[in-house]
Amino acid sequence: MSTPAPYYKYHVFFCTNLRADGSQSCEQCGAQASRDYLKQRTKELGLTGAGGVRVNNAGCLDRCSEGPVAVVYPEGTWYTYVDSEDLEEILQSHLIGGEPVERLRLPG
Ligand code: FES
Repeated sequence: MSTPAPYYKYHVFFCTNLRADGSQSCEQCGAQASRDYLKQRTKELGLTGAGGVRVNNAGCLDRCSEGPVAVVYPEGTWYTYVDSEDLEEILQSHLIGGEPVERLRLPG
């Protein structure tokens, strides 16, 4: 039996966790605003829905010291990012063009 195509072409999860103890966590770097930015951009560009791009919040992905982090499935490409320019590059290159952004990739 062949594997069915994934429901979304790309599914992006942003860790938006904030650690109560003040140790490094993604929300300290504005992860929620970054997730909101990318989600809004996918809407503006008509990329959402089945066969398109879905952007979701996630809890801690256990890569806190490398963050902020986001991961793109189905490939499982991990990214870190600093600002909306980085997010825009992930959007244009990876989510639209299919080419991961090497300079922002994390190992694994
Ligand atoms: S707080 Fe983001 S990976 Fe743990």
